[in-house]
Parts: sequence; structure tokens; C-alpha cells
Amino acid sequence: MAFSDPRSPSWEPLLKVAWQAWEQAHAPYSGFRVGAALLLADGTVVPGCNVENASHPVALCAERTAVCAAVSRGMKPGDPAALVVVTEAPNPTPPCGACRQVLAEFAEDLPILLANRSERELCRLKDLLPRAFTGRDLVR
Ligand code: THU
Repeated sequence: MAFSDPRSPSWEPLLKVAWQAWEQAHAPYSGFRVGAALLLADGTVVPGCNVENASHPVALCAERTAVCAAVSRGMKPGDPAALVVVTEAPNPTPPCGACRQVLAEFAEDLPILLANRSERELCRLKDLLPRAFTGRDLVR
């Protein structure tokens, strides 16, 4: 399967988009740039990068800016096929808890490739956020 192997060539176009987005990150306060690339079922690849603010808690993560950009282009639940997250941290950076929750709204079990300049780690959203709270839990 294309996205079950971290070395699959299928990741390359996503890595390229994620590193391009990483260049655009607005991270003057933390200096910690994050790039993301979200692949949709129709083959569209949507970039995201973190966007910080002088009011620090207002910062947006790369994963969530990618999701918001994709929704504004028509992404629906079930559409995401894979996600790449890139940083220059010594260890590949996993999505924060808030991003895991936002991703779970649109993808039950997304393959996520975490990468830095030299390493790759493949994980799945279901393992990062087991027993997620979803719309199904809102039924009264
Ligand atoms: N950040 C992300 O963009 N994604 C994550 O999942 C982890 C954290 C950003 C937020 C902030 O701009 C910077 O990294 C440091 O926390």
C-alpha cells in the first residue's frame, strides 16, 4: 500500500509541498517552523504552515491551517487520504492534541508521515488519538 510504507515514493510530492509550506511558516516567536501537506481522495494536495501571533495563544498549527484551507476548498469528512508534517526538530514532530482532534473530525484513521531533514516516522491517527470524541458521541 502506497501510504503504509514511510519510504514509498508516493510520499515525495507531499513532502515537497510540506517543505514549501514550511518555508512560509510565520513563527517569529518560537522560531519553530512547521509545514504540512494534506492529500485528499481526489488527489488535491493542500499545504499548511504554523501562523504565530504577538498574542501567543492565538497561534495556529500547520495541521489545522491545512485542514481549514482544505475545508474552504470543499473538503468533506472522509476526504483526507494522508498527511505529512515536517519540521527541522531533532525528532520528527507529532501533531499536538488539538490538531489530532481536528483531524479526527475529517478522517477516522489517517496515515500521517512525520519527517525532519533526515528521518521519517509513519503513524496513524487512530493510534495517536484512540477512542476519539466524535459527532457520534453527541447523539442524545
Ligand atoms: N505547532 C504546529 O504547527 N503543529 C503541531 O502539531 C505542534 C506545534 C506549532 C505551533 C507553534 O507555532 C510552534 O509549533 C511551537 O509550538
